[in-house]
Formats: sequence, C-alpha cells, structure tokens
Amino acid sequence: MHYSNWLIGVKNRASIRNACKTPPNMDRNKRGPLNVDMQNNNPQPNDKTRDLTATTHLWRKGYKTIKKIGEGTFSDVLKTQSLKDGKFYACKTMKQTINSLEQANNLREVQAMKRLSPHANIIQLHELIFDKETGTVSLICELMEMNIYEFIQGRQTPLPDTTVKNYLYQLCKSLEHMHSCGIFHRDVKPENILIKQNGLKLGDFGSCRSVYSKPPHTEYISTRWYRAPECLLTDGYYGLKMDMWSAGCVFFEIMSLSPLFPGTNELDQVAKIHDVLGTPDLSILQKSRAIHFNFPPKKGSGISRLVPHCPPPALSLLYQMLAYDPDERITAETALRHTYFRETR
Ligand SMILES: Nc1ncnc2c1ncn2[C@@H]1O[C@H](COP(=O)(O)OP(=O)(O)OP(=O)(O)O)[C@@H](O)[C@H]1O
Ligand SMILES: [Mg+2]
Repeated sequence: MHYSNWLIGVKNRASIRNACKTPPNMDRNKRGPLNVDMQNNNPQPNDKTRDLTATTHLWRKGYKTIKKIGEGTFSDVLKTQSLKDGKFYACKTMKQTINSLEQANNLREVQAMKRLSPHANIIQLHELIFDKETGTVSLICELMEMNIYEFIQGRQTPLPDTTVKNYLYQLCKSLEHMHSCGIFHRDVKPENILIKQNGLKLGDFGSCRSVYSKPPHTEYISTRWYRAPECLLTDGYYGLKMDMWSAGCVFFEIMSLSPLFPGTNELDQVAKIHDVLGTPDLSILQKSRAIHFNFPPKKGSGISRLVPHCPPPALSLLYQMLAYDPDERITAETALRHTYFRETR
C-alpha cells in the first residue's frame, strides 16, 4: 500500500483526536490555539472571556494573576502569585470546561502529576482549582523560567557540551522515572520541557498513557516532528520507547539548535527520517505491525554530518535513542548508564 493512501484512511477515522495536533510550524511563533477535538462538547469561550473568567476565579481562590507565560493546544498558562504564601506559581487553565471537582481530579494530567510527584525532574502540582460556576479547571504548578524551545530559540552559537549533557541527563531521569511508574508521556518536545537555571523538569502530562494499556492506541498521536516511526507507520502499535525517540530528537535540537526532522506533513515526516537514517529493513516493518508500505530503498545521510562537532559518546547515545526499531532503541534506564554521562552521574 502506498503510505499516502493509508494516511488518508487514518485521518478519516474520527477516533484520532490529535492527528491534526499541529507540530511547531516552520515558523513556530505562528503557533496558536489549534483546532483539536476536545473530550466534551461544552462550548468553548473565546480568548477574552476565557482570560477574564480565569482571572476572576483565580482571584476568588487566592491567586493574583501576573502575566501570561504560555499557551498550548489545551490550555493557557499564567504566572500567578499566591495571596496565602506570597510565592509565584504557574497556573495552567484548561480551555476545556468540565462539570465537577471529581472530573477535575480524574483528568489524565492531574492523575499523572500526582502519581509522578515528588521527583526532581517532574513538574510538581501545588493545587488543583475547580470553579463550579464556569466549569474552569486550573492546575497551580511550580513555576519554571522557560521551556527548552525558548531557551535555544535565536541562539547563534552552540551550547557548551556540559549544558547539553546536564539537560539531557535530567530529561532521561524524568523519563526513567515516568516509565518505571508505568506511564509514558507521548508528547516529549522542547515546549514541554521546562528549565530553571540548571534544573530541568518535564511538564504537560495531558497526553500520557499507562504502559499497561494495550495497543492499538488510536486516540492520540504526538507532535509530528518528534513522532517515532512506529507512531507514523502503524495503526497505534507503539509503546513507551516512543518517548526515547522524541527525547533523541530534542537531544539533537539542543545540540544543533535546529530540529532534526521538521516534517511538513506525515508523509514528509517519514521521508525526512528516511533521508537521514535510511529506509528500514523489511523485517523491522513487519515486526512492528507497520502497514506494508513500498518505500523506495534509500541509504540515509547519517546524523554525524548534521552535527560535525558532536563528541563521539554523544553521537553514540543519539544513534541509540534514534534506533528505528523500538526494540533496539535504548531505554531511559540504560541511557542514564551511557558513557556520555560518566561525569554527570
Ligand atoms: N510550570 C510552568 N512554568 C513555566 N512555564 C510553563 C509551566 N507550565 C507550562 N508553561 C508554559 O506554557 C506552555 C504551555 O503549557 P503546556 O504544554 O502544559 O500546555 P498544553 O496546552 O498542554 O500544551 P500542548 O500544546 O503541548 O498540548 C509551555 O510550553 C510553557 O512554555
Ligand atoms: Mg505543551
């Protein structure tokens, strides 16, 4: 079957909530609220009303709004100050409204944050706020300085290897912790990785899933540029190793200051991966339950020419994180023991 024909079929399946979850565009600054199906049918207030509602309900619960610091597909994020303890927090207010506090507590993101905390590399949930009147739910979280995308955006000179290594080590630690708790993230990307000075924490658990849930996972596909081959080529037969692929893409991006596979659509995404890594053996595709696509055999250009100054241990780890076959791909636990991190451990 030709890949583009299969894609048309997949996109027509209404159950794929996030097939249209737009990745960062070529111009990432153009990212705005994206056209995704929400999990309920409540009418969504427009931006102005939502901002006002969020501010009012936060004030009632003892939080002063300082400024807007982020926006994602599903939420607006504000810097707030608690009137109780005087501390600053990030407040993530969901665009989706809900009906009860119980529903708020049952949100996948809330459950995951509770289960994963406390951990040095996981964003901590401080308080969950539900406003009955408006159905608004806000997550009061620890405040970070910026996300990794903001950190590397506009930089001209590469970061010192010690900085790259420090951040990647912490990212692997966060994934090792998540995976050992039986959860995988499914949306590891620079915008969801937050930093404060030398510390790094993984955030945005809205897409995570239990490692015990049986595939096919049809309701969600992570942001395109960071999407592993098994997510692109199968009908939902992927698992926790997809996070390691995404982390590998982030690793490359921190090192080179530009994305590794900036596909403009799913077809182009696969082509970009094959341009660098080459087309996989048929055996990998068969084993992974990939639909039988007839990709013209291609030898990849390799990653090393894209990062000519990359230290050999970093390149070795990068290749292991970007193994096409998820069974061959390194786990977070093994990655932490890689020689690249010898001085970090
Ligand atoms: N704790 C925090 N501290 C500082 N900034 C934050 C924090 N949490 C989120 N942000 C900022 O807000 C942005 C959006 O947050 P988040 O990714 O959690 O929202 P989302 O709606 O789930 O996004 P997505 O589009 O990835 O699904 C982040 O990229 C980040 O820049
Ligand atoms: Mg996000």
